[in-house]
Amino acid sequence: MGEKRILSGMQPTGSLHLGNLEVLRTWARLQHEYQMYCCIVDWHALTTLYDRTEQIGPAAREVAADYIAAGLDPNRVSIFIQSHVKEHAELHLLLSMVTPLGWLERVPTFKEKRENLQLNEESVSYGLLGYPVLQAADILVYRAHAVPVGKDQLPHLELTREIARRFNNLYGEVFPEPQSMVNEATAVIPGLDGRKMSKSYNNAIYLSDDADTVARKVNDAFTCPTKIRKTDPGIPENCVVCQLRRVYDPVGYQTSWEEDRQGVRGCVQNKRELTDILNALLDPLRARRRELLSDPESLTRYLAEGAERARALASETMQMVRKAMHL
Ligand code: TYM
Repeated sequence: MGEKRILSGMQPTGSLHLGNLEVLRTWARLQHEYQMYCCIVDWHALTTLYDRTEQIGPAAREVAADYIAAGLDPNRVSIFIQSHVKEHAELHLLLSMVTPLGWLERVPTFKEKRENLQLNEESVSYGLLGYPVLQAADILVYRAHAVPVGKDQLPHLELTREIARRFNNLYGEVFPEPQSMVNEATAVIPGLDGRKMSKSYNNAIYLSDDADTVARKVNDAFTCPTKIRKTDPGIPENCVVCQLRRVYDPVGYQTSWEEDRQGVRGCVQNKRELTDILNALLDPLRARRRELLSDPESLTRYLAEGAERARALASETMQMVRKAMHL
């Protein structure tokens, strides 16, 4: 295992979906090369679930099960819940003192969330605005060198680098500037309606969906609007089913796309085949997550061990930070 460190995280705001799974599969590949810290960011989930907090704990355990089911080895990777490592909160507070308000107001995800949740001046919380500062703390408290994420997280990582630079200029070199790692082929997984797959758009296929649900969802997915009959030439670039096929069948998709373009295959066949491909991918994952969730003691132990390893590194960083800031 190398000396370079990676930190990444996911919010326990509900079940994980195929977009999240692509990032998880990247993590699983990286675990052999890096020291990895994989966080379940329950404090971030409070920015939207502050009035339904009872949902966060069970969702966090499901996310932990998904991390492991997707291939992370809990003995190699530190898997932990953010709120179990209080150092994140201390660093968040300190970083908030050196982060200009203007930087936060300009973050595109803040503007998006504000619109999606239809929030006005009165209902935007201090925590929602500060969301990316907490994310910067998650990353910097492990002095991470790299952060594997989907494309939507790039503005947060840019801000993390700016905060790290500002801190280092003010107090001396403590933090490496973390690089983003985005897998271009899977940077944005489309949802069933063609927008980015997201819990908040109600367009996702979840890792917890059973085989019939996957079949039903794929059947309702958005396809090329100009292909009405099987013999009409399709434009795979405009079809969600074809786009997902390319991700989950990176070799075989070429033939199906070609046949689609020539009008010798129809949407029904495309949908049936994609359903089979997705269910073959998800079947072992479903079995493993079921097994993990039916053994709560093991899951609790993995999370406790992960938090202990994370805490050891985070407290070392906080000693450096306090010293640099004369605290
Ligand atoms: P979250 O929980 O929304 O998403 C978790 C990860 O999944 C990726 N992702 C996608 N990738 C491709 N296609 C999609 N449709 C898709 N939807 C989601 C996200 O890019 C992300 O990598 N702010 C973060 C959580 C966070 C974090 C961190 C991440 C908190 N602290 C520190 C990295 C490092 C978030 O909301 O992710």
